[in-house]
Amino acid sequence: MLHKDDQLLKEQANEQIREHGSLVQRDPYRLHYHVMPPVGLLNDPNGLVYFNQLYHLFFQWNPFQTDHGSKFWAHMTSKDLIHWEWQPIALAPSDPFDKNGCYSGSAIVHENKLYLFYTGNVRDQAGNRESNQCLAISEDGITFEKKGPLFTVPEGYTPHFRDPKVWKENDMWYLVIGAQTEHLQGRALLYKSQNITEWQLVGEISDKEKPLTDFGYMWECPDLLLFDNQDVLLFSPQGIEPQAYQYHNIYQTGYLSGVLDRQTANFNHQEFIELDNGFDFYAPQTTVDGQGRRIMFGWMGLPETDEAFHPTKDYRWIHAMTIPRELTLKQGILYQQPVKELTQLRKELLLNQQQKLVDEVVTLHEIHHDALEFIFQVHAFKGKSLEVSFSEHTKLVFNKEMQTLTLHRNSIKSYQSEARTTDLQELTELRVYLDASSIEVFVNQGEKVFSARLFDAIPYHELTLQVNGTLDYHLQAWSLKNVM
Ligand code: FRU
Repeated sequence: MLHKDDQLLKEQANEQIREHGSLVQRDPYRLHYHVMPPVGLLNDPNGLVYFNQLYHLFFQWNPFQTDHGSKFWAHMTSKDLIHWEWQPIALAPSDPFDKNGCYSGSAIVHENKLYLFYTGNVRDQAGNRESNQCLAISEDGITFEKKGPLFTVPEGYTPHFRDPKVWKENDMWYLVIGAQTEHLQGRALLYKSQNITEWQLVGEISDKEKPLTDFGYMWECPDLLLFDNQDVLLFSPQGIEPQAYQYHNIYQTGYLSGVLDRQTANFNHQEFIELDNGFDFYAPQTTVDGQGRRIMFGWMGLPETDEAFHPTKDYRWIHAMTIPRELTLKQGILYQQPVKELTQLRKELLLNQQQKLVDEVVTLHEIHHDALEFIFQVHAFKGKSLEVSFSEHTKLVFNKEMQTLTLHRNSIKSYQSEARTTDLQELTELRVYLDASSIEVFVNQGEKVFSARLFDAIPYHELTLQVNGTLDYHLQAWSLKNVM
């Protein structure tokens, strides 16, 4: 079902790379080990899957502008989650059923073929939206043939209906999808299928005893994760108001953990927990890889946030993925850890010190790099607060009295200092990945995570520890390779 403009559109997109690729590469804020668009705008990770010994990562891509528009699916592959190869464009918005965007979706392997499920976004002349859930199939994992729409919006829901995520269990296929009720409330719907093409609505995923009915106006990019006998519904709700330290970004990403009844869609679950406590994280997607690990990538950005102010727009690109993270579930809490392969990025050990500090400020000058990893282990800390600064504007503050951890950065929009905070009783470890324009902080083996873009002066050149109390610590720092 190849539409005549498909090749042409892909060719025009490739032309953008040829024309602007070298400008993009000249940007000092270009990242060193994060997946980025070769030109244009990247948003959600899509179709993350392990197939034929390769990790496949697709992403929402607008090759023509650094704004949102009719999205393509860009495609990259990797043997090791570290070194990525650009592949031919997987999907272009070339057909009547996806002409305004091949929106987010997922991939699964079936009969040794790669199946992509995605949302065909269609707008009519009056701007009304239509949403088709579409299929594309590939035998070699590189060229995809569109098979057209499988189903559209069910009764009782608006066309804000998108982002199918498919998985298989005991010969049955399941799919979760983001939806909005006619009363403008966000939902995730469960579908099932025996043959992968005919899908039957099971119902709204909801705790019938205490339904989460009034929780935002749209749920984007749902994903259902299985850990032994526990299920986790990961999704990105829109329209949640800030509450204490939570929900301070324009849109959220978080999860409900519990047990989902596949027959009725009843989901007995715990409270919603925000997945990332930083500034820039949205629409993550997971897959189980060949080693049985649950791997996640997130978009290190957010819609309608700071996009006009990113300095990278001058170099004709915007946004990036997070580093790949491995997820585990402990007592209903998702832990995120950088995948172990990331240690391959280490170039030079810059610092390795074990020390005791009492009410001191220590500045370590040995670092002059754009890309760094730090592991800061707190063996013992008694006192009020502990500060780790990575630059003039970017620092982490653990306030032991308040039991909080705060990330400060300079706002991309206003250059004023801004902060995100989370509750934290004890600090035992900070593992920090700094890249030319990003920071990812893994706290206490991934109990909490902060992701953010930074546009600080680079190279980073000093690290300051400010201790208000007594601290026994071990600090290691490495410079990291540029693999992008
Ligand atoms: C989330 C999202 C999805 C949609 C895609 C379009 O960021 O809005 O719901 O499919 O982006 O690019």
